[in-house]
Amino acid sequence: MHMDNAAFEPVRDWSPYPPVDVTIRADVSQGWLKRISPIVVTHRRRIFWSVLAAVVAMVAQILVPRVIGLAIDGALIDQRQSLWAFVLALLVLGAARAGSTFGYRYGLYGMAFRVEYQLRTLLFQHLGRLSFAFYDRVQSGQIISRANSDIRSVQMFMAFAPIMAVQFFSFVIAIGLMAAISVPLTAITMIALPGVFAIGQRLRKIMFPLSWVVQSRQAEIATVVDESVSGVRVVKAFAAERQQIEALARGAERLRWANLVQHRTRASHTPFIENFPRLALAAVLLIGGQQTIAGSLSVGDLVSFNLYILLLQAPFRFIGMLLILGQRAKASAKRIYEVLDEPVGVDDKPGAVDLVTSGGNISFSRVTFAYGTETVGGTQGIEKPPKVLNEFELEIPAGQSIAIVGRTGSGKSTVARLLMRFYEVQQGSISLDGQDIASVTQASLRSAVGLVPDEPFLFSTSVHENIAYGRPGSTRESVEEAARAAQAHNFIMGLEDGYDTIIGERGYDLSGGQRQRISLARLFLQDPTVIILDDSTSSIDVEIEERIHGSLKDLLKGRTTVVIAHRLSTISLAQRVVLIEDGRIVADGSHQHLLDTEPRYAETLAATVEDDRGKTW
Ligand SMILES: Nc1ncnc2c1ncn2[C@@H]1O[C@H](COP(=O)(O)OP(=O)(O)O)[C@@H](O)[C@H]1O
Ligand SMILES: [Mg+2]
Repeated sequence: MHMDNAAFEPVRDWSPYPPVDVTIRADVSQGWLKRISPIVVTHRRRIFWSVLAAVVAMVAQILVPRVIGLAIDGALIDQRQSLWAFVLALLVLGAARAGSTFGYRYGLYGMAFRVEYQLRTLLFQHLGRLSFAFYDRVQSGQIISRANSDIRSVQMFMAFAPIMAVQFFSFVIAIGLMAAISVPLTAITMIALPGVFAIGQRLRKIMFPLSWVVQSRQAEIATVVDESVSGVRVVKAFAAERQQIEALARGAERLRWANLVQHRTRASHTPFIENFPRLALAAVLLIGGQQTIAGSLSVGDLVSFNLYILLLQAPFRFIGMLLILGQRAKASAKRIYEVLDEPVGVDDKPGAVDLVTSGGNISFSRVTFAYGTETVGGTQGIEKPPKVLNEFELEIPAGQSIAIVGRTGSGKSTVARLLMRFYEVQQGSISLDGQDIASVTQASLRSAVGLVPDEPFLFSTSVHENIAYGRPGSTRESVEEAARAAQAHNFIMGLEDGYDTIIGERGYDLSGGQRQRISLARLFLQDPTVIILDDSTSSIDVEIEERIHGSLKDLLKGRTTVVIAHRLSTISLAQRVVLIEDGRIVADGSHQHLLDTEPRYAETLAATVEDDRGKTW
């Protein structure tokens, strides 16, 4: 099973879903559209053909009033031309418009949904790279709402904006055709335009902050819902359902308010923008009508003109919509960019090589660490976070098993997390077999170091897949072997579908001890060079623990092992015990040696047993 001098082999480096390799522009000073443009540009051909189809559709639409006007004058009043030619022209224009409308809608929505896919994948790829420092401070509801409603509002804008651009184009053509009929009448039509523009600008200014408020309140609600569901055990234990409902109601009320203000703003502005052409309709009927009576304007031209004004109504309605969608998309895009702009924190250094293990010699050299210092560019640094580890020194020879003992909060789990490189040390270095863990690839490091955390997480898949999580594709035999070693086989066989039993959300339908045993089986299967057990057997019955220790001893043989424990039985697994206090190791030796020479050791053991009771009850 276990080999020395093992080079790292990735579990799987093939995926049916290619990664999205374009990303937004990194320059945060640029506008949101400019930043997303590299993604949009990947669809340039689709956009080109769609916009072309949209132009055809618009031209087909815009020629209709002209054809009707010419038909009235040429075929009805003068009766010099055949009516059929005009009817046929209208039919052709209708068919062209139908076909091209299908084309541009299909094309633009296809583009928008692809952008949505790319953005969401990018976001998820980035979330995967972000380090624990990010997850320590961010709310899950914030991420969920950014991945859902924010991306959706960007997608809606993407589908809509090109149509708008074409609408604007049609607006310009319509104005041209109107001017060809009568320049003075066209001028009258345009009289209210500056007013419309001013109202539009005002709407834009108000909508952006409002959209931001709406989106972030949606995220607040998502967080309350998420916490009520994932924290349901605490909620129920404290009979705090009302409290959660009130929290949700508060959030919902705040969202309702923001939504109402948004819609009131919209309702009070858009009618002016949309209905302005009706004003022009009256003015044109008055002035154009007098010209027609006086004989200086034909009836057909007047009808065409009026039809154009009606056609203009659509672009105007769209202006209002575009302003609203645009401001919402801008607010949403900025919220998405916030995540994408988040510095990765722990990352593979350029030129990082795979770790080559040779037994697992661990060395902590003057390591200083505090949580909450990785927030780059944040203003958090005003108060210096307390140092959890302070010039921490620890040398573990290959193959040794060592127990770390210390009071709650003394930094034991932190030592484990730093060894996994979940966080970057601020000073000093940690090396494994002589290689600085900060300069090797994370994948190879985490394949070489196995961690069973104090709160194991199970996925809502089968028991088999949970055990094989670190080695997808493992055979049932090897999964079973690992489960046997973790003393999990018997209870798994007692489950309804054995290894194929689907575990409920987070494995809550299993006991804490059962979850830990599955988590141990995962480790047995991963077969790492270095093993860290962070209080991993604390919720397992003493009796079963003893049996696990039997197999653990086999597993630990010849591997470097760090156990974090307060049960004497677990500590006894280790050849050496270190006592951690004030961010340093204050005593080092065998269990018996520490008992004999270090009064703080016995005190700590007694205190952690107390803490343990406090934790359970
Ligand atoms: N993710 C975190 N963010 C900020 N502070 C943390 C975090 N995890 C632990 N701490 C703090 O660091 C100290 C050491 O924690 P930890 O290593 O978990 O202690 P132990 O495992 O010995 O009980 C504690 O004071 C704790 O409050
Ligand atoms: Mg801990």
